[in-house]
Amino acid sequence: MLTIQNVTLNYAPELHGVESMPVVGWAINSDRKNVEQTSWQLQLSRDAAFSQIVFDSGKVADDRSQNITLSGIELAPSVWYFVRVKISDNHGQQSDWSEAAGFISGLPGDQWQAEFISVEGPEEKDSSKGTLLRNTFAIEDAAEVASVIVHASALGLYKLYVNGQKVGQDELAPGWTSYHHHLLYQTYDLTALVTVGDNAIAASVGAGWYKGDMSFNRKRNYYGDRTAFICQIVVTLRDGSQRRYGTDASWLGTDSPVLFSEIYDGEVYDARREIPGWHSVDCDTARWRQAEVVAGNKGVLHAQGASTVQAIDTLAPQALIVTPRGETVIDFGQNLTGWVAFRVRGRAGDKVTLRHFEVLDAEGNVYLDNLRTAKQRIDYTLSGAGEEAWHPSFTFQGFRYVHVECWPGEINAENFSAVVLHSQMASTGEFACSNPSLNQLHHNILWGLKGNFVDVPTDCPQRDERLGWTGDAQIFCRTASYLMQTRNFFAKWLRDLHYDQTAEGGVPHVVPDILSKKCDDNWLLSQGTHSAAAWADAAVINPWTLYLMYGDKEVLRQQYPSMKAWIEFMRAHAVDNKWSYKLQFGDWVALDAKEGSYFGATPNDLTCMAYYSWSTLLFAKAAKALGNQADYETYSALHRDIVDSFQREFFTPTGRLAARTQTAHILALYFNLVPDAFRARTIDTLVELLAEHDGHLVTGFVGTPYFCHALSENGRASEAWQLLLKDDFPSWLYQVKAGATTIWEHWDGIKPDGTMWSPDMNSFNHYAYGAIGEWLYRAAAGIDTDEEQPGFKHIRIKPVIGGDLTWLKARYRSGYGDIVVHWQVEPGGDTQRHVELRVTVPHNTRATVILPAECQLMATDNIAFSAINNECQATVGSGEYRFAYRL
Ligand code: BGC
Repeated sequence: MLTIQNVTLNYAPELHGVESMPVVGWAINSDRKNVEQTSWQLQLSRDAAFSQIVFDSGKVADDRSQNITLSGIELAPSVWYFVRVKISDNHGQQSDWSEAAGFISGLPGDQWQAEFISVEGPEEKDSSKGTLLRNTFAIEDAAEVASVIVHASALGLYKLYVNGQKVGQDELAPGWTSYHHHLLYQTYDLTALVTVGDNAIAASVGAGWYKGDMSFNRKRNYYGDRTAFICQIVVTLRDGSQRRYGTDASWLGTDSPVLFSEIYDGEVYDARREIPGWHSVDCDTARWRQAEVVAGNKGVLHAQGASTVQAIDTLAPQALIVTPRGETVIDFGQNLTGWVAFRVRGRAGDKVTLRHFEVLDAEGNVYLDNLRTAKQRIDYTLSGAGEEAWHPSFTFQGFRYVHVECWPGEINAENFSAVVLHSQMASTGEFACSNPSLNQLHHNILWGLKGNFVDVPTDCPQRDERLGWTGDAQIFCRTASYLMQTRNFFAKWLRDLHYDQTAEGGVPHVVPDILSKKCDDNWLLSQGTHSAAAWADAAVINPWTLYLMYGDKEVLRQQYPSMKAWIEFMRAHAVDNKWSYKLQFGDWVALDAKEGSYFGATPNDLTCMAYYSWSTLLFAKAAKALGNQADYETYSALHRDIVDSFQREFFTPTGRLAARTQTAHILALYFNLVPDAFRARTIDTLVELLAEHDGHLVTGFVGTPYFCHALSENGRASEAWQLLLKDDFPSWLYQVKAGATTIWEHWDGIKPDGTMWSPDMNSFNHYAYGAIGEWLYRAAAGIDTDEEQPGFKHIRIKPVIGGDLTWLKARYRSGYGDIVVHWQVEPGGDTQRHVELRVTVPHNTRATVILPAECQLMATDNIAFSAINNECQATVGSGEYRFAYRL
């Protein structure tokens, strides 16, 4: 039986708000092996029953089942569409129509009649209070109504309600973008929420990233000094005609019970100020005031569609602790990002105060110092009306522990839960092996992702920073994309990267860029706010990584000018391919830094040139993928020239690499900058540099991500495993042994003697070093894609077996279906190991299984292996396979 599963639209099962026809993909199910699609047919309909088909592709002879782009389809605004697919395969089988996947079309900015409205006065620019806005709209004849769709956004943050009910699952909407260029609106279907007659529509609005106090420099009003809300309701009648209602001066507004709310500092809420029925039709609005229309550029409104922030999970407390200092603390057992929800009873005016934090100090007391100026504090005043259930709205905290500073009556852990917030993304990675510490490391990497993918990829979620540091996002992109479906998340952020690029192509250190605006009095940033090697290279590496992982040319096309501008920036600042520009972070926080310094020992000119070559190479490949032959040739030539300069500058005639650091050797090897004749010497020196530290790394942000790759790709797999499995300081597993539940910013966040790194910069939820996750999937499990057929259309399976593990199993849910690699090792004889390798290859893909040349094959499932490139290889079609061999 041939069936279709998981039809996706822009890689999501359902899209709410999309302004042009989304990219379509599907997975194939069959009870046969070696299944390859031979043709597809796709229909687009206005209804789920497919009685109003607006497009039919007819039968298309084509093997692609991902990244199908359809041009020339004009979408009507604000209505549902449904897509279904049927296919045939190489076994002569024909599928039925798939289940339909639906999307709601968006409303391009120039079609908005609604206005931005506010009840904040211009004099309230220093306030971070909340406001409420409301209005009613009438539905005359329900039988005539086909759908009621709303599109909404804000300058600030908003929560939307219809007839007293919260609309949708989104939190912290509209998220954080380069607001002046790119403001996202969210789209919801209200059809089931509205009734005949009057309906109430209402919004609660807060300051958020738009207006609140942000960055370590603590300045406010980066984008504007007045919050505002905008929404457009589109009622589509059965005859296809549309009626529109939206925000305008007829709306009413008032102050909300949110007295204060900011991203870093938390929320102050007075439940005594709640207005009964404020979001329902029956509300006494006598004291409400008229909203004002405020200026706002509707031309920058764009549909978000998918990957909004939501409450994804809820964790129960693990323990209630009384610290030696007498503080009552709830331990959720997991460092996370979100907020605490609680239930409380008491008298009107009673108070709840919560402080959120990540770690206890060496004595086991509350530790707030590493939050710097971020208060992470909740102040709630009770209304006294029975049981009150509450959580904040316009803030989030990074925490494992909550100090209950004030609470009416006895503190009972059951009244608290931790709500985990992050951008909604499908989970795509699973990893388990026989080493429990490694499993915990994988867990910590995943929670580092969850904690820092809150609308933008942030460095950390707790201190007064939480910024979209480009370097961190670059380093972690591939790992993140094994763990979760990141395409929409990163595509959104990359758009902002482009918007915030300087006219010359410079890439800001953080995206959205707020540092260039008000941070010139900061000691570090006064030296430069954009264009640091490895950070700015996110402009090229991230789109390329998405292309590798998803095979999607849309994002590559979207980012192409941005990628090119960044290469040109480096070229403009280069002499003999050696470029430099103001502030460089180098091998940030490497342990070979001078005492007390953040800057590692690897010279900046080496890091700059190494990344210049790498980004130029990837850009040339992107040009080729997009069919731009002229750029491909130009930038391939530039790349060769940079490599040449690098070799002349950094290698002595006898092959010594001038900078004797681990990171310099890692970059040279991984970025292919080593002359062939010197490769053996370079790898030997890297191994020596490891041995000098007793097998430990001393690398920072730049060298660490590629360390194990540089070893395992150069015949030193056992050193890679040894490095990974070290569990004394400094190492990945040192933190695991110390009880970490996320990844630390510093190898010595908590030092072996129990003291901590300076509170100036000591996050316990920083995903950067979690970039080792890529090695777990791509090397240890060996699940990789072929860049000629990216997105796992052609899979490369080349597990790096080692580390005394007896088994390892990883699953990657590609668009085509699950790719599974499961290896088991049994010691046999003196040195020989017996390996059993089980592999699942999804339909409509092929996989090349690559085993070591020296292996003795025992069982091959009737697959013929041959010796190619000093390896033992076989290419297989879809299905499940079991291979056994001796090593
Ligand atoms: C951040 C880093 C970031 C760095 C720039 C720090 O404050 O937390 O992760 O990349 O600054 O060097």
